[in-house]
Amino acid sequence: MKTLLILTGHTKGLGHAILDQFLSLEGIQVVALSRSSLEIAHSNLTEIALDLSDLNGLEANLPKFFPKVQVDRYILINNAGWIGEVKPVGKLNPKGIQRVMNLNLLAPMILTDAFVKAYGQQKGQKIICNISSGAAHKPLPGWGEYCSSKAGLAMFSKVANEELKSLGFRVFSLAPGIVDTEMQSEIRQADVQNFPALDRFVGYKRDGRLTLPEEVAAKIFYLISHPEHFEEVVQDVRDF
Ligand SMILES: NC(=O)c1ccc[n+]([C@@H]2O[C@H](COP(=O)([O-])OP(=O)(O)OC[C@H]3O[C@@H](n4cnc5c(N)ncnc54)[C@H](OP(=O)(O)O)[C@@H]3O)[C@@H](O)[C@H]2O)c1
Repeated sequence: MKTLLILTGHTKGLGHAILDQFLSLEGIQVVALSRSSLEIAHSNLTEIALDLSDLNGLEANLPKFFPKVQVDRYILINNAGWIGEVKPVGKLNPKGIQRVMNLNLLAPMILTDAFVKAYGQQKGQKIICNISSGAAHKPLPGWGEYCSSKAGLAMFSKVANEELKSLGFRVFSLAPGIVDTEMQSEIRQADVQNFPALDRFVGYKRDGRLTLPEEVAAKIFYLISHPEHFEEVVQDVRDF
C-alpha cells in the first residue's frame, strides 16, 4: 500500500519512534517537520527544519509540506508539542502563552486545513491524528497553557471529523499516556511552588511507570492501520 505521512516533531521522543515505525513500511513516503533535522539518509524521508511556533514562517512554507502524489493512504500526524511554561496563572508571560498556543494548537489547525486542501479530493484513505493529552480533559495546576492548548486541539479534532466525514477523512485526538521523553524530563525540572504535582511526576520516572515511546508508536500505528476499530475521535492509548 502506497502511503504518504506528514509528521511533525520527528526528531525526538514519541515523534522519532513514530518515524521509525513508518519508515520500515514498504511504499512509504514521509515529510517530517521539526526545528532540527536528524540528517539520516533515507530515500523515503524529506526533512524540513522549521519552528512551528513561527506562524508566518509556517504559512510561507506550507506548499513544501504537501507533495503532489497519488497514494492509497494520506496521513497527517500533528505530534510536535511543548509543555509550555509550568507556572500558575498570574506568573505567565505573553510570549510564552503565544508560543505554546502557536505550536500546540494553531500550527496543527493550519496544517490540518492545508492537508485537507491538498488531498481532500483524492481517493484513498485520509487520516489526521492529533497528538493530544489526558491534560486536554483534566485541569492540572501549573499547566494552564498546556491543558488549554490540548483541549482546544481535541475540540478542533471533533469539529473537523464531523465536517470532513463526507470527504472520507477520519480525525483522531489521541492521548499517548505518560511517555519517557524529554518533555517528561522538562516537567520534572519544574519548581514545586509552581507545579504542586511535581512529586507524582518524579515518582513516575523513579518507579519505572513511564511508557517507552516505541510502545506508544506501535499503538498509534495500530490505530492508523485499523481506523475502523475506533469509532470516537478522542482516543487514549491506555484504552487499547
Ligand atoms: N511525553 C509525554 O508524557 C506526553 C504525554 C502526553 C502528551 N504528549 C504529547 O506528545 C507529543 C510528543 O511529545 P514528546 O514527549 O515526544 O516531546 P519531546 O520529546 O519534547 O519531542 C518534541 C518534538 O517536537 C519538536 N518540536 C518542539 N518544538 C518545536 C517547534 N517549535 N517547532 C517544530 N518542532 C518542534 C521537537 O524537535 P526539535 O527540538 O528538533 O524542534 C521534537 O521532535 C507532544 O504533542 C506532547 O504534548 C506527551
